[in-house]
Amino acid sequence: MNFNIALIRGDGIGPEVTNESVKLIHKVGETFGHSFTFNEKLAGGAAIDAFGVALPAETLAACKASDAVLLGAVGGLKWDTLPGDQRPETALLGLRKELALYANIRPAILMSELLAACPLRPELVGGGLDLVIVRELTGGIYFGDKGTVTDDDAGVSAYDVERYSEAEVRRIGIIAFDMARKRRGRLTSVDKANVLESSRLWRRVVTELAANYPDVALNHMYVDNAAMQLVRNPGQFDVIVTNNIFGDILSDEASMITGSIGMLPSASLTGGNFGMYEPIHGSAPDIAGKGLANPIASILSAAMMFRYTFGLAKEADAVERAVKHVIGQGFRTPDMAGNESVKIVSTSELGELVTAAVGQ
Ligand code: IPM
Ligand code: MG
Repeated sequence: MNFNIALIRGDGIGPEVTNESVKLIHKVGETFGHSFTFNEKLAGGAAIDAFGVALPAETLAACKASDAVLLGAVGGLKWDTLPGDQRPETALLGLRKELALYANIRPAILMSELLAACPLRPELVGGGLDLVIVRELTGGIYFGDKGTVTDDDAGVSAYDVERYSEAEVRRIGIIAFDMARKRRGRLTSVDKANVLESSRLWRRVVTELAANYPDVALNHMYVDNAAMQLVRNPGQFDVIVTNNIFGDILSDEASMITGSIGMLPSASLTGGNFGMYEPIHGSAPDIAGKGLANPIASILSAAMMFRYTFGLAKEADAVERAVKHVIGQGFRTPDMAGNESVKIVSTSELGELVTAAVGQ
């Protein structure tokens, strides 16, 4: 079977980590008898340089015409002084909104081989860590009304509105409950209902949904407490569902517990099969082009693409096994070195090792 993938390598370390997933995807094709066609397009800083806009219409059209989108990362110092509505990040937000990718799935798994790279004491994570953050991705403060007003007394004020509808909360809630049901049956909804009206609505809608899921144990947690609990006792979490900005923040925190932010993949879904797959890490311009970047988040994002969009569970399992195998052999990029004696390899060396291990 042939699958069409829109490929956006992006900026900074985006191209180098994406290269490794492309090699791996071709290897999966050879091993399991599929073909994958890549349609490569620009977005983010690279598109600003080439076309003067972060998200060219052609890129969006190519994404819409494909089965899935694989993206590296966008942004960098070079474009940091552009006005907010012209920055590389607007490409990412535009893709999420235009492609209706409201459900962002961010699994955080601490492999036992990486215990030494985890900054928490072993007794806090010894039992392992396997949680999923389900982040609402097309609403809230990222997309609410925003602007600046000038006033004689106060000077310039800027504002960003956090707003959620019942329908938006319900559809992400359903994704999270369904996921919890297939996992360990625990769902934590994170909000700030002690202060925010939008969070009170969030909590009410999630609570209403719980009636349809008697097999899922739901609890609610304020976001400040959740941030603390993630480092105090991360093992208590199974599925976390939260709004756009809290999910952004908590997923970076959760990633560090897995040993490195370079390990976390993500899937952004429409509720159907279509999806965009990208590492949760950014473009890391400081290490770009040096072969230091960890390709695992991008490779595991490709595994999520096999699983969620293409329905290729066996292939996804093979990729995840290959990653575990290579890490088990002691190969690491510098970010996940920890304090063990490990074999430090470059981005492409690690990518090649994982690619070679697929199908073995
Ligand atoms: C993420 C990133 C993005 C976000 C940025 C690059 C706009 O941090 O995917 O977590 O805030 O959503
Ligand atoms: Mg983020």
